[in-house]
This record gives sequence, structure tokens and C-alpha cells, in this order.
Amino acid sequence: MQHLKHCQSLAQTFLIRSKSFKLLKSNVPSVSVWNGCPSHRWQSSGGHGWQEYHNDGVSKLTFALAGLMAGTGAVLAYKLHRGKMMIDDDFRDVADLEWAATSGQLLETETSSLPIYTLEEVAKHCSLDSGVWVTYKGEVFDITEFVALHPGGDKILLAAGGGLEPYWALYAVHQQDHILQILTEYKIGVLNKESYKKQESANPSDPYFAEPTRHPALQINSLKPFNAEPPASILTDSYITPSAVFFKRNHLPVPRVVSETYKLEIEGLPGGAVSLTLSELKSRFPKHTVTATLQCAGNRRSDMNKVKQVKGLNWGIAAIGNATWSGARLRDVLLYYGFGPDVAAKARHVQFEGLDRDVTGTSYGASIPLNKAVSEEGDVLLAYEMNGEELPADHGYPVRVVAPGIVGARNVKWLGRIVVSDEESKSHWQQNDYKGFSPGTDWDTVDFKSAPAIQELPIQSAITHPAEGMSVDCYAGDVTVKGYAWSGGGREVIRVDVSVDGGNTWHVAKLRTSDKEHNPALPPPPGRAWTWKLWEIEIPLPDKAQELQIVCKAVDSSYNVQPDSSAPIWNLRGVLSNAWHRVKVKVSEDHKVN
Ligand code: MTE
Repeated sequence: MQHLKHCQSLAQTFLIRSKSFKLLKSNVPSVSVWNGCPSHRWQSSGGHGWQEYHNDGVSKLTFALAGLMAGTGAVLAYKLHRGKMMIDDDFRDVADLEWAATSGQLLETETSSLPIYTLEEVAKHCSLDSGVWVTYKGEVFDITEFVALHPGGDKILLAAGGGLEPYWALYAVHQQDHILQILTEYKIGVLNKESYKKQESANPSDPYFAEPTRHPALQINSLKPFNAEPPASILTDSYITPSAVFFKRNHLPVPRVVSETYKLEIEGLPGGAVSLTLSELKSRFPKHTVTATLQCAGNRRSDMNKVKQVKGLNWGIAAIGNATWSGARLRDVLLYYGFGPDVAAKARHVQFEGLDRDVTGTSYGASIPLNKAVSEEGDVLLAYEMNGEELPADHGYPVRVVAPGIVGARNVKWLGRIVVSDEESKSHWQQNDYKGFSPGTDWDTVDFKSAPAIQELPIQSAITHPAEGMSVDCYAGDVTVKGYAWSGGGREVIRVDVSVDGGNTWHVAKLRTSDKEHNPALPPPPGRAWTWKLWEIEIPLPDKAQELQIVCKAVDSSYNVQPDSSAPIWNLRGVLSNAWHRVKVKVSEDHKVN
């Protein structure tokens, strides 16, 4: 039976093939696409339809999507047997089974015997390594062989791990029955009901239509672009912050970059511009791993908002996280491509450009001082792994800058271009944002040119437990207080002081540099303390206290301390918010306290 079915489909396919070539030659309009990322194209006001992103230096790649499908016949000649064995266990539940039976809107196949997938499962198959899956009208297709064998098939990688509709929707002519019939050959399952509904409701003209799936624990500050932090209490549960709950700070839609076509441009070195593939980056340079804390300049902005409203997302205390990052050292890459005394004599900065772009085509950008970039002690990475796995989409897949000790904003994600220059990045985020001002400066008087771009961050600490408004048991005798502390520029946190009476009396907390209590990490070399310290202390409850005002403040290796309140450091963008952190809790006689 199986054999017969394949013979029929092959015969059909060869008939289809000739039609398809005719289609390709004659009336197929061309589509411009960016060759790196499938998901971030949207209708621009410029009128030419879709926003294009590309990072190959060549302006616009042109292809006809019909051509991708029309050439399928050639591929099918190779595709003698796909062995589509269906396993009943793959079905999730009866409701899904019923759904499967009705969802075959596109093609007449034995839908009810096909496995059911979620969008998340499909999304994992977005490269030749992981397999290339696409969906169309609720059905799932594994087109890995097609992409591997068909010249030009890599362009269909634009849709890999997601729906074909946004691409097909561009040109109705492609939605020809015979092309859909070819697709049948690759069908491996159907989407479950929820996933299909979700996909249906996504609007491809929305630049955010293909954002990655996020952990439900994240507290969202803004959905589009996605900005979220974990509940503060989970930050101190582990020394290394799990990637899924690591804060996410995006200014623009997340670009879905295809690793096979990814290129990193490097400019400003003697040999002229160079272009590096991901595999070259991985194979040409030794892999280094650095554990580093990343903090957003706006972390704890909500404290400043209590003084006077600032402009910006209302971050709590968890826009900070600690991760291990692995990749090539920026220094190694720059040296390999010709960085030397001649360049050092003139250049002062290393600029970075992301592959995320706004509607005008402007990408996110930032720069760091050249000294930091090329210093052996700077530990700046072009990271392709976070916590031992490839970078998640939200954190810059496939490559991001990790500049330890430097404000999050300069750790450019989805890195597309590096420029060694005598100038800082011209980007808005370097020139007109992420700068500190006097509390007396307002939006009428601010001159962004008058202040330097934030690089190293000041000393910081915050209380993660107990949380504001909680109650502690008066019979417990003492209260356990936990938190984190970190300082920028590689300055090590040397002490954290904690008070439960608003700062009248102080206790020194126990600092932790790993999750292994009896096996702490070796102290970092001076000036290279890139990671936070978690701290904890049990403090006796003051006699007859009904309320505690818990306060923490940290000290770094340069004896920098945090200011005691936010008012004197208030600034119109609410950055660099590092005053003593204060939390009020009740002391309760009720044993059932939270
Ligand atoms: N890089 C790009 N390309 N686009 C961005 O929006 N945000 C920056 C930085 N790098 C950003 C970027 C900011 S402001 C911060 S705080 C960090 O990324 C956040 O990194 P994370 O989302 O991995 O936590």
C-alpha cells in the first residue's frame, strides 16, 4: 500500500514539475527578503510592502517563493521513501484526536492518524541541524530534505519553525493546488487546536507576530516590544539565573535569525571589511566561558518613580541576572582580522549593530571603549551560548556581545556588525538614551550631548526576600533576609549591610558566590569580578516591633557605597537607580503568616 501511494505521488509530481517551471518563468513576482531572519518583516509606510532585513552586505536578495515550491519535483525524485510511521502515542488526548480529524483543510490525507504538534514543538525545527518544519493551515510539514536537496531551498528557511502563510500571503498566485499537493508529501502531522488558533490570530503584518514563546512566570512590563522580569523572589533561588526567567529587554521585535545564512560583518580593520559565518566564528576561535551578571540601566526604576515620574518602563528589582556565557573572545577576533598598534593609535571605540530593526530600517546599536574590547582582562565575548545552550532567541540568537561589568544596553544582541572606530556608535541608544543627569534636569533643559554614555554601572544591591507587605512571625525570633549585590567594572562586592530598623543598626550578611555552600568559587582576579554575590542573613526581631523596615546596602572593592535615597540621584530617564533598597514587612502574632 505504502509503496503504491508513493508511486502515485511521484507520477503526479513529475506532471506538476513542468507546470511549476512555467509558473516560475512567466508571471511570478519577485520577493525581496532579508537572508538572516524570517520573522521580522512588516508593511512599511514606504509603500513597497515588506520591510527587508539583510546582513550580507549585498542589498536585497531576490527570490520567488513560488520557485521554492515549484522546483519541488526535482527534489521529490530523490524522495523515494519518507517512512512516515505514525505512532498512536503521539496523540495528546481525545479532543486533539477529534481536532486532527477535522483540521485537514488543506490536503486530503489520513489526518486522523497523524501526530499532533504544538507551535513550540514546530518552532524547535528551524534549521537543517534540527530539521526544517513548517506549518500551513494547521498542518505540519517536515521539509528538511527539500531544503537540503533543492538549490535555493535555503530561502524557505525564512519560514522554518513557523507558518508558511505570512510568506504565501504575499503572492496569492502561489497558493496553487498543485504546489499544495507537493507539500502533502512532506506532511508529518497537524497542529493542536490551541496552536492553530493562536497562529490564525497572529497577524503577519504585525512586526511582533512571530515572537518566541516566553516563560509564564515572567512579569511583563511591555508586550511589544517584549520586556519582562522574573518575580524577584526567584532570583536568589540559584546563583545562575535560568535563561527562561532571565530578564528580557527588547527595544524592537525579536529577529529570528537563520544560523546557516547568518553573517557577522567586521569593519574598521586594515584588511577591509570581513564577513564571518557562525561556523567560522565557532571553529576559528577558541571557546571561552565567562560567568557574568547583566543588569539593565533601568533596573529598580520603580523606586525613582516613587520620587517623581520618569520616562521608561517601570522595572522592579529583577532587571538583572547572572549567567554563564560562552563564545569567541572579541579580542581574539579583532586581532585575527588585523587589529594592531596602527588601529589602536586612531580607534577609540568598538561599535555593535543588532539585526533587529525599526520600521525605518534602523538597527539597535551601541558601542564600548576600545580598551575594554581588546584588553585580555576585559573578557568581552561574542557569545553564542548562554548557560551551556545556544543563545535563546530573546537573548540574541545566534550571537550577542557580552561585555562583563558594562551596562546591559551595550551587550548588543543578534549581532550583525562590528565597527572599530574613532567614534562612538551613532545610535539613539548610545547618543540620546542611557545617560545620567542631575535631578534638576528636565525634558525641556536636557542636552544629551552633555553627558557621557553609561558604561560601567555603579554598586547595586536589593532584597529579594521578604517581599514588601509580607508578614513575619513574631514568635520566630528572627527574620531571614536574602538578596543580591553587584557592582560594575569588575569591582567585587566586599560587604552587604542589612538593617531591620530602617538603617539605625546594621548587620553584615553572609555572601555567596556559588550554589555549593561548601565549595565556593575561587575569588575572581582583582578588577574582574563580573558576577553578583547572593547574600543571606538571619536578624533577631527587635523587641515589640510591629513593623520592620528592612534595608540593604552594598560596598564594592573601591569602597563605593549606595546612596541612602533615590531623590538625590533621580534623573529624567530613571537610570542608575541604586539607592538603599527598603522593604516594609509586618510582624504578626498570627502563626499563619506568609
Ligand atoms: N541588543 C539589541 N540588538 N536590541 C536590544 O533591544 N537591548 C539592550 C541589550 N542589547 C537590546 C540589545 C538592553 S537595554 C539590555 S538591558 C540587554 O540587551 C538585555 O539583555 P537580555 O534581554 O538578554 O537580558
